[in-house]
Formats: sequence, structure tokens, C-alpha cells
Amino acid sequence: MRIALLGYGTVGSSFHKLIDIKKNLLKEKYGVMPQLIAICDRSGCMINEEGISYEAAYKAKIKSGHICDKDNGMHPLDVIRELSLDLMVETTTANFKTGEPALSHIFESMKRRIHVITTNKAPLALHMPALLEEASLNGVEFLYSGTVGGGTPFISFGEKVLRGNTLKEIKGILNGTTNYVLGRIIDDRLQMNEALSEAQKLGIAEADPTLDLNGFDSAAKLVILMNHLLGNRITISDIKISGINESLPAYKSDQTVKLIASSSPEPKVSMEVIKRGSPLDVSSTYNVLEFSVEELGKIYVTGKGAGGQETAASIIRDVVELKEKLMQKSYQIY
Ligand SMILES: NC(=O)c1ccc[n+]([C@@H]2O[C@H](COP(=O)([O-])OP(=O)(O)OC[C@H]3O[C@@H](n4cnc5c(N)ncnc54)[C@H](OP(=O)(O)O)[C@@H]3O)[C@@H](O)[C@H]2O)c1
Repeated sequence: MRIALLGYGTVGSSFHKLIDIKKNLLKEKYGVMPQLIAICDRSGCMINEEGISYEAAYKAKIKSGHICDKDNGMHPLDVIRELSLDLMVETTTANFKTGEPALSHIFESMKRRIHVITTNKAPLALHMPALLEEASLNGVEFLYSGTVGGGTPFISFGEKVLRGNTLKEIKGILNGTTNYVLGRIIDDRLQMNEALSEAQKLGIAEADPTLDLNGFDSAAKLVILMNHLLGNRITISDIKISGINESLPAYKSDQTVKLIASSSPEPKVSMEVIKRGSPLDVSSTYNVLEFSVEELGKIYVTGKGAGGQETAASIIRDVVELKEKLMQKSYQIY
């Protein structure tokens, strides 16, 4: 499998390392032989048609901060246009204003019938219906399990475990940072700025936590889940979004406040009062999703929000899934 990896930060480099560690398992158990033939960051692209070792790429990145010492004139779109690729893995920085550069990387790959895996929520939040359409038009697979629940498999639970059942609505906590901060404010009486700086010190919140606090991260994940699991065709502009702030809604002693993302009655992200001890009352950085299923009632899936390692592991799962999907296409049994 000839792969171009765009973005070589925490997730991209961890994915490369995992491929290196798991190459025997991937080959023997799943028949997958991933070969990174191009790796790009902002400095340009390292290319080797024979495959780039983790050692070579990591050394270059550590030594100079760049994957590419001298500009060889190759940038991500050139790689997509000029190399013969089976798969493009997109792990560049999320840009919630334009979706770029990931949006162009993904569209260009699909047009050239290159399968796509991404961990970048921004292009999906802004243009998921168009991206799904483009993938289908070109007959390529488009996998993005690392964008939501990379550490807790919401997408595959909804898609595979509930196969044949009717999913009516989803509702849950999709952002570990805000859940941690709200928990410290409500349970331990911290001020918001105290809770936030503690979360930053612990590596739970990013240096710029705006997208977590204003609810955008949760809303982007809700868009992806609603499109994927409920068959909606929506973007982030269809979600009513409010994040967390000091003015909490009034709650009683047997209640607490959570940042809840819900698909019904209208798609929205907002602080809600819930009963203490109820399944949605998860603590610390935990995420939870309630699946309301016609035949089964309510089912809850809970687990930790993903970091870089878990997200890199989700790309490996998508690579294996890609291989399985391609195999299934050649055995059409009705
Ligand atoms: N880290 C997580 O826990 C996590 C979890 C879920 C999803 N994600 C998503 O996964 C993606 C990667 O996350 P990360 O933590 O690995 O981010 P990161 O460490 O900031 O790495 C981003 C990479 O993208 C590269 N990049 C940015 N703009 C580019 C451009 N125009 N052309 C080529 N390369 C470009 C950067 O290049 P330079 O190195 O040259 O700056 C860097 O290598 C993001 O979209 C993020 O939202 C991350």
C-alpha cells in the first residue's frame, strides 16, 4: 500500500512509528504492507519510492524541525498529483475557518482516485456532505475514525454493533477538556480560570483551548457522528453552539452541569443540567455517547477522549478497515 502522509506532528509521526512497530502484525494478520513513500510538513516533502523509514524521517524532523532540509520543489498537492499512491493520510493542523490545507488535499486525492484517511475534523465539520459525495463519485474509501472517539470507538459501535437496528438519536459528552473543567468548577468550587490553568498544566487542555471551550470541537464531532450514523447531511453551521462559561445554569444538589451535544430535537451543543449518577454523568476527561435505538432502548458507550497516540492508533485501524473494504468489493455476494 503506497501512502503519502501529510502532516508530521504528534499524530503523523506517531502513526509512522506504529507502522514501523506493527509491520509484521499488519502483514501476517491482515495482509497489509503499508509503505510511506512521501511525508510532508510545512517545509516540504521527503520522498523515497522504496519507502521512508521511521528513523530517517524522525531524525530529520528532530534535527532541524523540518522533514525537508532543502526545498525540493515538492509540496503536498504535487505529491498527490505526481506520485502513484493508494492512500493519502491527512494529519495537518485543523483550520475551522477554511478547512485548508486539508480540504484541498482531500478533494485532490479523491479526484485522483486515491483513498483517504484523515484525523482532521475541520474539513468534515465544514464540508462533510460534499466530501462524502466526492468520495462516492470517484469510488474511493474515506475513513475518519480518528476525528471522533479515536480512543473510544463511537463510530464503529454505531456502525457495526448496531447494524440492522434503527438508531433514532445520539446525545453525549464529546470533549474531555470541558468535562474536566466543569467537574472542577462544580465539584471542587474552582474558578474557571483556575480549573483551566490546572488542566493546561496537566496537559489536558491545549495552550489555546478556545475551540474546546466555545463548543466548536464538540459540534464538529456531532456533525461527523450525525452524518455518519444518522444519515444526515449537515455541516457545523447547522448546529446551535454555545460553550462553557462562568454563568452555569441553576442546578440542585442531586444534579450537575455538563456540556452536552445532542442530535434532537435540534442539533445543538450547550450546557445542560443532568441528574448526578445518571449514565451521562461521567467524570474527569471521559467522553460518553447515548445511542437511542428503536429496538433496544438507550445504550451508553464511554471512555477517555483521544490523545495523539490513540489517534495514531485509529489510523492503523482505518488502514486495516480500508484493506477489508477493498477485499469485500471484489466478493459481491447477495
Ligand atoms: N493530537 C491529538 O490528540 C489529536 C486528536 C484527534 C485529532 N487530532 C487532529 O489531527 C491533526 C494532527 O494533529 P497533531 O496533534 O499531530 O497536530 P500537530 O502536532 O500540530 O501537527 C500538524 C502537522 O501538520 C503540518 N502542517 C500544517 N500545515 C501544513 C501545510 N500547509 N502543509 C503541510 N503540512 C502542514 C505541520 O507542519 P510543521 O511540523 O512543519 O509545522 C505539522 O507537521 C489535527 O487536525 C488535529 O486536530 C489530533
